[in-house]
Formats: sequence, structure tokens, C-alpha cells
Amino acid sequence: MRILHLGVGAVGEVIARTVATEDAVTNVVLADIDAQRVAEVAGKIGSKAVRLPLDVTDTAALRRALADADFVVNALVPRFNTGIMRLCLETGTSYLDMAGDNDMDDEIALDEQFRQAGLTALVFFGIDPGASDVFARCLYDQFDTVESLTVLDGDNATVDGYEIAASFSPATMIEEVAASPPGFVDGVMTERESMSAANSFEFDFPAPVGRLRVWNTDHEESVLMPRYLAGKGLRNANFFIALDERFMELVRVVHTLRLDSRQPIEFGGGRFAPLDFIASRLPRAVDLAGKMHGHVCVGALAEGTLGGKPARRYMYQVTAHDQAFAHMGVQGTGYQTGLSAACAVIMWVQGHVQEKGVLAPERVDPQPYLDLMGRHGVPWQVVDLPA
Ligand SMILES: NC(=O)c1ccc[n+]([C@@H]2O[C@H](COP(=O)([O-])OP(=O)(O)OC[C@H]3O[C@@H](n4cnc5c(N)ncnc54)[C@H](O)[C@@H]3O)[C@@H](O)[C@H]2O)c1
Repeated sequence: MRILHLGVGAVGEVIARTVATEDAVTNVVLADIDAQRVAEVAGKIGSKAVRLPLDVTDTAALRRALADADFVVNALVPRFNTGIMRLCLETGTSYLDMAGDNDMDDEIALDEQFRQAGLTALVFFGIDPGASDVFARCLYDQFDTVESLTVLDGDNATVDGYEIAASFSPATMIEEVAASPPGFVDGVMTERESMSAANSFEFDFPAPVGRLRVWNTDHEESVLMPRYLAGKGLRNANFFIALDERFMELVRVVHTLRLDSRQPIEFGGGRFAPLDFIASRLPRAVDLAGKMHGHVCVGALAEGTLGGKPARRYMYQVTAHDQAFAHMGVQGTGYQTGLSAACAVIMWVQGHVQEKGVLAPERVDPQPYLDLMGRHGVPWQVVDLPA
């Protein structure tokens, strides 16, 4: 089987290296605009690696690469997603991506076309969204009734050398915090006020993460969980992430000054997007490799009834940043994301996903995926919290 990897940045590298360990995978094609990056990652993979310096905006070259592949892993920025998916329909290539940007509905709208083409698209399949949605689905299957599903992420890391840092793309992180978060509240899809203290609380993450203040932010799960997991009485579905006060302070100022925009502005004889400029002042995820110390936790909390009694169960994955660096040379979030996505690819390679169409993580049988997570270095755990 030939797997095409579009984008071999921090996350793409982890996916490609893990997918290459599967016997059924004969070639991993490493395609990136950065030829040096392609060479670096190829050197770590060995004989299965095929080097393909490629700018994905070159549609003819991209079409040729897709036509040669059985499956494509899209580890680029989400604005490329739907364009690549449409090309997959032409070339007969199954597909995976890890985030939805604003075009989540556009991707899901291709469901029927993928089904008719006999292809599978695994969409929004990183750690969160991705494993977090699978955890929610797994708990949903266990419970008799589910009133509430909440994704709760926390990171207690210290960062060497940077006062303010985001563990993934700083521009995306600022956008997610500054935007009005969608939430499923009392059975109605609602847009909340961003960065509101009313939508923030302290949550006791399992050890060794501990108690952290979490904030409601704009994330795919708040939309996906009510769309696919509403059948057992769901009334509330939300996403919360722990953010430190320095980062919140930065986003408040940036948002107030309307610098959280990707629309280019003219200033001082130059033209630039303010958000890109702000993000350029912060470390990139790759700059943080080896500099984060602590643990990151991603999980889903289900509240409802089990065996006729009230129940609250949290299913989660914890990664140590130092261990992630030792194994793959990345920080914990890149490791969790890459391995979670790789498990979804391997699940497809091994034939556990027979269904065709555009499949959000909630639509996939959770068990084979959860087994693979345990085997590939991102084991999950479950804890029952006081009801
Ligand atoms: N769901 C999750 O849990 C989660 C978490 C983190 C990141 N992500 C997703 O993973 C994606 C990748 O993250 P990352 O940290 O690896 O980013 P990154 O910036 O390290 O990697 C992106 C790669 O794309 C390449 N690229 C950019 N433009 C290109 C083009 N025109 N043609 C070919 N290659 C091009 C870059 O050279 C780079 O190597 C993110 O954009 C995000 O969507 C998802």
C-alpha cells in the first residue's frame, strides 16, 4: 500500500514514521514544499520513504501524487482540506485530515460523493478533535443516558526560554480563544461570549496534571458531539482547555485591538496580516521541542446514567512532554496528535474501517482505534468521578 503524506512538519513526521512501521505499507511518500524537511524525515524512515518536494497549490502535480497513492494524510493547514478532498474524488484516493477550520460543513457535505466513489475520508482525526471524539463516542456507547459531553484538555508544562507559548500553531490558538465558542446548551446550539469568566472553571485533571483553570473555546467537538451523539438525551456539549493567565492576557489585548485578523492591512509602507505578525512573535510548535516539561492531558467527560444510577466518567490520554521528545523529537501535543492520526490511518490500512463516506471520529467503531492507541504509545485511561 502506498500512503501519501502531504506536509511533514512536526505532526506529519510523527504520522509518517508511525505509518511506515506497518507491514502492509510498502511506501510512504513524503510531500512538502520544504525539500529539506522531506530529506530530514526520509532519513529517519529509511527504505520505505519516497521523497517528493511539492507545493500543493500546483494542482497538476498534486493530482499526479494523489493518483499514485491508495491513501493520503493531509497534515497541512486546514484551508487546503476541501480542495484536496475534491481531487481525491477524481483520483480515487481515500483521505485523512486533523482539523476543520471554517469548512467543517463543506467537508461533511462531501459524504455522499465519497460514498458513491467507494472511498473513505476520516476527517478531524488528530488528538482533539480526533481521539477526544472517539472517547466521547466510547463513553456514549457505555452509558444508558448521556446528558452532557465535555472535552477537557489541560497541560501543566513549564516552558524553557519563553514567557508566552502555545503548544500548537500560535495563530490557530489565538483564533480559537478569541472567537465566540459554539456550545450545545440545554439542547440548543448557541454561540457564547469569548474569554468570559462565566465560562471558565477549575478542573481536577488526573495526576500528574492536577488542577487547572479551563476556558471555553471554539473547537470542532462542540459541534460534532451533538451532531452524532445526541440519541441518549444529550442536552450539553462543550469544549474547555486550560490556558495560563499570560496567554489569556495576550489574546484579550490582541482581540481588543482587532489584531486577531488574517485580513491584510497596510502599515508603515508594508502590507501584512496582523494575526500572522502577532503569531510570528511567539514560538512555533517545533521551537518548543525539548523545552516543555510536564504532562498534557486530553479527555472527554460524560455525565448521565449507568446501570440506573447517576454517573460521571472521564476518558483521557496523558503524554509526558519529555518522553515525547525522547521518542520522536517533538513536544507532547505534536506527539499525541501525530500518533492519534497515525492510529486512524493504520485502522484503515488494517481494514477495520469498511464504511465509505466522510467519517467524523464519532462515526467510527471506537474499539479497533482504542486498541491501536494502546499499542502505539498513546494509551488511554478511564476514571469515575463523583456523580
Ligand atoms: N486535531 C488535533 O489534535 C491537531 C493538533 C495540532 C495540529 N493539528 C493539525 O495539524 C496540522 C499540522 O500541524 P504541524 O504542527 O505539523 O504544522 P507544521 O507547520 O509543522 O507543518 C505543516 C507542513 O506543511 C508544509 N506546507 C505548508 N504549505 C505547503 C504547501 N503549499 N505545499 C506543501 N507543503 C506545505 C510546511 O512546509 C510544513 O512542513 C495543523 O495545521 C492542524 O490542522 C491538529
